[in-house]
Amino acid sequence: MTQQFRITLLPGDGIGAEIISVAVDVLKVVGKKFDIEFNFQEAPIGGAAIDLTGEPLPEESLDKCRNSDAVLLAAVGGYKWDSLPPSRRPEAGLLGLRAGLELFANLRPAKIIPELIDASSLKKEIVSGVDIMVVRELTGGIYFGKPRGIFTTETGERRGVNTMVYTESEINRIGRVAFETAQKRTGKLCSVDKSNVLDVSQLWRENITKLAQEYPSVELSHMYVDNAAMQLLRAPKQFDTIVTGNLFGDILSDAAAMLTGSIGMLPSASLGATGPGVFEPVHGSAPDIAGQDKANPLAQVLSAAMMLRYGLNQSAAADHIEQSVSLILQQGLRTGDIMSSGMKLLGCRAMGDALIQALEE
Ligand code: IPM
Ligand code: MG
Repeated sequence: MTQQFRITLLPGDGIGAEIISVAVDVLKVVGKKFDIEFNFQEAPIGGAAIDLTGEPLPEESLDKCRNSDAVLLAAVGGYKWDSLPPSRRPEAGLLGLRAGLELFANLRPAKIIPELIDASSLKKEIVSGVDIMVVRELTGGIYFGKPRGIFTTETGERRGVNTMVYTESEINRIGRVAFETAQKRTGKLCSVDKSNVLDVSQLWRENITKLAQEYPSVELSHMYVDNAAMQLLRAPKQFDTIVTGNLFGDILSDAAAMLTGSIGMLPSASLGATGPGVFEPVHGSAPDIAGQDKANPLAQVLSAAMMLRYGLNQSAAADHIEQSVSLILQQGLRTGDIMSSGMKLLGCRAMGDALIQALEE
């Protein structure tokens, strides 16, 4: 029987429209092969939504997302909206989407692709074989804690405030996702905090440690965030699954991504307890190359594969996409961001076409 899924597409800004259209074509081809029918509906978010409605996340866009089986997002942001205050910027749309769909768990894999190992700025022997999954808490911590704002003190001086907060239930629900993720991988979990300084981190460490009793097959370790940043560059292969809060996860997931040398290749999944997940590339909207057919569509395509695997339970279709991506890289096809000598340089559309050919074979 044909499986049917409603997918909301959020192209956002910059290169978003170009890369998401490749992902849609890929999904259509894969759908035919695996008897899956996708019903796509598009909605504005980010700068595009600000221009259209004045809001970075119009209620109508959020409703469309809520009423779908999964959300495929490209990226938001651009120079045009850079001078707006934080709450009005395109990025606020992204944060609103995460909060609105209660997407508390963000999975960010950073896996070395052997064909692209030369793209890493680190030595081959350091990064070869790296396969890390960062599990980042996404709807709490300092991103959402209150009080927040810029206030004027009695002396007339302005004071900026954000608050890092975690309740035990927030720690435990992301902890469970992390332990379960580690269980499915090599069984090693490293929890990253700053419990030598922060009370919120002490509570984090206490709860994660307690939770470990329920997952005897997982080997848990703890690391301070400054050391974790250093260890990621010094000896990244010591890590398998990392679990951490919102801000530390933001920073460490970029560092982990860069180990692979090509942020243009990395997908991510944001999941809640129930309801649709959001699947998006780790990279941004790249306004400098938007509309020039230069973008690498592969992180978006691999995000669609994550959507199939984690959001729609279609792992055979996900495998097929991932294998086809490897295949075109083995054929020496490259976009500008991952180009090296002797390889064949393609634009966004041509890379997509090559991938579709590989998928159909
Ligand atoms: C990310 C981004 C976002 C974040 C920004 C764009 C709000 O950096 O997804 O990592 O900080 O979470
Ligand atoms: Mg980030």
